[in-house]
Amino acid sequence: MNQVHLGHVFHLAGRPTVQDAADALVSLPNGALIVAGDGRIVYCGDSDDIPAEFRGDEIIDHRPGFLLPGFVDTHVHFPQTFAGDAYGGGQLLEWLDQCIYPAESRFADPEYARIAAAEFCARRIAAGTTAAMVFGSAFRHAQDALFAETHRRGLRVVSGRGIQTTGGESVAPLLIDEQDVVRLTRAEIDAWHGADTGDVDTALLHVAVIPRFSLSVTRQTLFELGELYESVRERGVYFHTHLNENNRPGTGEVDTTKTVYGVDSYLDTYDGRFLPGSAVGGRSMLGRRSIFAHSVHCQDSELARLAATGSSIAHCPVSQQFLGSGTMPWKRTIAAGVNVAVGTDFGGGDEWSIPRVLSAAFKVHISEPGADAISMHPAQMLFTGTLAGARALDMENRFGNFDIGKEADFLVVDPAGTPALAGRLTHGVRADDPVLARDQTLFTLLMGMDETAIARVYVQGRRIDDD
Ligand code: GUN
Ligand code: ZN
Repeated sequence: MNQVHLGHVFHLAGRPTVQDAADALVSLPNGALIVAGDGRIVYCGDSDDIPAEFRGDEIIDHRPGFLLPGFVDTHVHFPQTFAGDAYGGGQLLEWLDQCIYPAESRFADPEYARIAAAEFCARRIAAGTTAAMVFGSAFRHAQDALFAETHRRGLRVVSGRGIQTTGGESVAPLLIDEQDVVRLTRAEIDAWHGADTGDVDTALLHVAVIPRFSLSVTRQTLFELGELYESVRERGVYFHTHLNENNRPGTGEVDTTKTVYGVDSYLDTYDGRFLPGSAVGGRSMLGRRSIFAHSVHCQDSELARLAATGSSIAHCPVSQQFLGSGTMPWKRTIAAGVNVAVGTDFGGGDEWSIPRVLSAAFKVHISEPGADAISMHPAQMLFTGTLAGARALDMENRFGNFDIGKEADFLVVDPAGTPALAGRLTHGVRADDPVLARDQTLFTLLMGMDETAIARVYVQGRRIDDD
């Protein structure tokens, strides 16, 4: 049985790049999104033009609500579910030591991990984040709880245990032995990759290989993970980590990594070139299912390599502000041809909501110095929070917009849930030019919406917000 959802549709049709997002923007004030019984989109267009074959179908009238593709969070930390806004002084490396490693160590308790998994999925649904690359816990029982709860709630996830084989005292509970890395990582892949349907092309659950960052693993671990990743690439397994996040002079993560490894660039450590002088010591873990969080301080050569390998960046401006990590140069990064999606990086970021991250992106990039400043187009913002995320997860063929045949991941946004937003949408001044007026409405929606405006959440056409 088909369902006809009525509302104001916004999405990016086709396969645009961020540069041509404005041309791909579809706005249908009297929109209809028709979803077949198998969860796929069979029609997206004006409600007056609904083909005769769908006329008798069940109608769900969300007007005056909006219909948007589900948001994609390409970098969020499950074991930091209760660690948002953690205060300990200092920037990234001090914050990890003082706040985050202790918080993540609590997941050794299976009951605590189970409560966190329930909260994590609840927060994602409330925020309308239908798909996510999730940085996992060091504990197998916690990852089992995450995958099981994600499945129960009907969400999509790509996740993997956060791998650490070296570090100081504060991280000791999270460390695993070098000789266990491959066995434990492979066990998670075998247990959960595509586990819900038995087929990665239809599954909602996927696994990633996730070294925390180069400073938390040894050369031997990078070597073994490279071999492992090469052996599971064909199975559609993902790779995820942090890159070039914080460069506080002298003691920042970027300088420290380059010094510890003796490499020319941070990316080299993940690219098989982790020996001194960036000599090749193992296999590259870059590729079209590889997502690098932050990538704020990349050299041109690193951006070129990310683009050439089809790797993606998870841009996390809320977190970058919280941890003093700086501003990813927007123009230069997208000009390099890398796919840039967004991440909350919760709890480095203190927002679960992708629109809040897009709002931060708009503000930091319009404030970049001199000629680097850019006013992001609202279509670019929507693209970055939806279709670019699906592309980063290498599942653009399945979701991310409302093209016919895609799986129907979408949100109903009801401005009435957020009176201040409703007021701006109803009474805000709009340009005479209909295209600019359209863009103004989308901008107001993205800048002004939070959890309170998200009325319903659907994955594969199934409503998942009514647990
Ligand atoms: N780098 C290594 N670990 C982390 C983490 O947990 N959060 C952030 N933001 N950066 C990291
Ligand atoms: Zn992170």
